[in-house]
Amino acid sequence: MKFDAPATQNPIDQLKVVGKPLDRIDGRLKTTGRAPYAYERHDVAPNQAYGYVLGAEIAKGRVTVMDTAAAAKVPGVLAIVTTLDIPRLDKGEMNTAFLFGGSDIQHYHQAIAVVVAETFEQAREGAAAIKAEYERQPGRFDLAVEASNAPLVPADSGEGSGGGSGEDRFGDFEAAFAVAPVTLDATYTTPDETHAMMEPHATIAAWNGDRLTLWTSSQMIAWGKRDVAKTLGISPEKVRLDSPYIGGGFGGKLFLRADAVLAALGAKAAGRPVKLALPRPMIANNTTHRPATIQRIRIGAARDGRITAIAHESTSGDLPDGQPETAVSQTKLLYAGENRLTAMRLAVLDLPEGNSMRAPGEAAGMLAIEAAMDEMAEKLGIDPVEFRIVNDTQVDPEHPERPFSQRQLVECLRTGAERFGWNRRNASPGQRREGQWLVGLGMAAGFRNNLLMKSGARVRLHASGGVTVETDMTDIGTGSYTILAQTAAEMMGVSLEQVTVSLGDSDFPVSAGSGGQFGANNSTAGVYAACVKLREAVAHKLGFNSAEAEFVDGQVRSGNRSAPLGRAAETNDLVAEDSIEYGDLAKRYQQSTFAGHFVEVGVDAYTGETRIRRMLAVCAAGRILNPKSARSQVIGAMTMGVGAALMEELAVDKRLGFFVNHDLAGYEVPVHADIPHQEVIFLDETDPISSPMKAKGVGELGLCGVGAAVANAIYNATGIRVRDYPVRLDKLIDRLPPLA
Ligand code: MOS
Repeated sequence: MKFDAPATQNPIDQLKVVGKPLDRIDGRLKTTGRAPYAYERHDVAPNQAYGYVLGAEIAKGRVTVMDTAAAAKVPGVLAIVTTLDIPRLDKGEMNTAFLFGGSDIQHYHQAIAVVVAETFEQAREGAAAIKAEYERQPGRFDLAVEASNAPLVPADSGEGSGGGSGEDRFGDFEAAFAVAPVTLDATYTTPDETHAMMEPHATIAAWNGDRLTLWTSSQMIAWGKRDVAKTLGISPEKVRLDSPYIGGGFGGKLFLRADAVLAALGAKAAGRPVKLALPRPMIANNTTHRPATIQRIRIGAARDGRITAIAHESTSGDLPDGQPETAVSQTKLLYAGENRLTAMRLAVLDLPEGNSMRAPGEAAGMLAIEAAMDEMAEKLGIDPVEFRIVNDTQVDPEHPERPFSQRQLVECLRTGAERFGWNRRNASPGQRREGQWLVGLGMAAGFRNNLLMKSGARVRLHASGGVTVETDMTDIGTGSYTILAQTAAEMMGVSLEQVTVSLGDSDFPVSAGSGGQFGANNSTAGVYAACVKLREAVAHKLGFNSAEAEFVDGQVRSGNRSAPLGRAAETNDLVAEDSIEYGDLAKRYQQSTFAGHFVEVGVDAYTGETRIRRMLAVCAAGRILNPKSARSQVIGAMTMGVGAALMEELAVDKRLGFFVNHDLAGYEVPVHADIPHQEVIFLDETDPISSPMKAKGVGELGLCGVGAAVANAIYNATGIRVRDYPVRLDKLIDRLPPLA
């Protein structure tokens, strides 16, 4: 189905099932431990052996010797494959660093061996017994040093900055900034971050002749299948991926990783199925991370608060041939202003690969621009909410002929201000004291783009009147199972209980997958498209006029005739398959999602420790398909935003080139229990430009802007601006106001 004109009235608009705050249909399986994650799939292949990965102990150079003699003698060891045993493997299209093979080391903990044994402990002992020798080469590990001569680099996707150069200019920024009566020129930094998802990267691999099956944990099944085949040099038709349950991904599981490649190589060498998980301490350095940024922001405004000049320049680092963190992307769209400059520079670093982490670009970019907006509002003497409202735009500021499909940022901000009690904020910082706590309020806008992706599904009608949905869409904890079931139930006029959803299998139609908060809207639209076809097939089978047929309560009705839905599948399942595909609506309209984030903090007047006291997010993101699972997404994202503001930071060893705190003891993340009150409000909105579902995404919107709102609240509490995230107590303690 081609979607190339605004959606009209359709069966989804009935909202009998869609739009309801329903429990997750997979909730019972998960809470009772019966939803099998990749490493737990004991029954998919008999006689599974265990694989253990060894990572390089240098950041850059060559492995010269790998002595496996002692490892081979460890009891239970079945096979050892070292990186010197095979030539460098090809690279998946989405990978920057090579995953295995050859002697070159591109980053610390790059995989250099896999040991397969009867038990996990034996495999681990075997890996520890391998002696590797290296020829170390000097590397570039310090972004601050390398940033000084980093060239402009465009993003290779449509999401980032820069037509060809990495720099975009509209109007004359320098001239407008020079004459602006009120200006800000400030530089912010954000650190490297790791995904820290609960379930580690894990795969069980089994060969059947030249056919490979991987039971794995992947957000994007079709990308995984393609890149496994490319990496191993086999045909994609010989590869099957299956990933029905995923314990979080946050972008770390968008792309093929070493667990899948080494499980496959280990299984081949051992002649047995192999299960392998990346040990937690390997994940930060072996896989991808969110790259650190240095962001310079300049804003010039008239005294009435109207922005006349805005510039956002970001520098990040990555391995050779890597990508910039697109931290300026929201600044291209968020506020009005005629004279604009955005630029991205990319330094070459020999740290592990930088890549997508939840809201890549905006998550880091909003930490900077929304803190800068707070600073600018103060300089102007304008309330930060009003300052943003004054600079609202209903069109793409770089291309004014392109309107936003929907943009209710102002409503988000006004609603949030009212519901949060923003009028009780004291505009002068450091004024509110409650016992040991300095109390402050902060806010920020939230912004994340809405992406359209082709997405397919197959739906089957059974004689029972039940419906089965099959798509390679994934559920990374987000609620995909439930919203896909809701969509099929609404379309076919059956109850949620009559719908079965099967996900994550590469034998199913290719979906949008889970990423970029595009999963919900696109994958449900794919199911919508398949259901439109199924409805036609049902009507045809029953001899009804398909344009008139109504699907209600398990019945199909047309005029004064009606029949049970299942009758159309009396002899055989009735099967329909289709994809949603998009025309140029995304070109004609800018599609984005919006939020207002509000935070109250207490900062300990003695220690500088920050506690979050309450948070509110008001979101405008098209139709909310399931307010319960959407709320969970946003609350989780808000919690993650607190992490970005206060604690998340991979510490870089700048001499040896690795992330030091590469486990969950040293890499701190907040949990829900750290935040006593979190509230989410969804504005009543539908976006007919986004898809027949009229929905968008919220999974990343909930993160974008939160960290800046926290930092702004800390400023309001203490009068201290910290422009280098995270805002830890050691950056506050020496600057706290004198105690009364
Ligand atoms: Mo998201 S970083 O596209 O999983």
